[in-house]
Amino acid sequence: MTERTLILIKPDGVQRLLVGRILERYEQRGLKIVGLKLIHVQRDLAERHYAVHRDKPFFGGLVDFIVSGPLVAVALEGLNAVAVCRAINGATRPHEAAPGTIRGDLALETAQNLVHASDSAETAESELTLWFGPEDIHTYGRDIDRWVGGSPD
Ligand code: CMP
Repeated sequence: MTERTLILIKPDGVQRLLVGRILERYEQRGLKIVGLKLIHVQRDLAERHYAVHRDKPFFGGLVDFIVSGPLVAVALEGLNAVAVCRAINGATRPHEAAPGTIRGDLALETAQNLVHASDSAETAESELTLWFGPEDIHTYGRDIDRWVGGSPD
């Protein structure tokens, strides 16, 4: 099923000059960028985005990290985009992430694991609404859609 999902390339990805290489992995898989922005996020938005982790011991540190510098928010569209992006990212804890995944190839620390991806279609919908206004999301066709299964079904 064609889905949309939210990816964050976190401040460590921006600082480590990995934005292009990370974006390339999703694009090469066939996913379509339908929204893209660099944003130095306010604490309030970071706390709302990670509200599900509010009671976890790492919550404060996680929010501090997310607001520490600009990050790149990406809205991606494609067949099974939620599951595909989580597979591209690899396990949350980089030492458990398979080689070939973003975290398995490029990260070591759970707290600085380069990327976030929505964990379900429902979460994706609410996270996309949090990070993008309707005017920031673009619907368009690509000539390669018929080769990568990117046509809406
Ligand atoms: P993410 O996929 O963005 O979702 C929640 C984030 O919390 C996760 O990636 C990690 O960056 C972070 N996180 C999860 N567990 C821990 C932990 N034990 N210590 C620090 N950060 C964590």
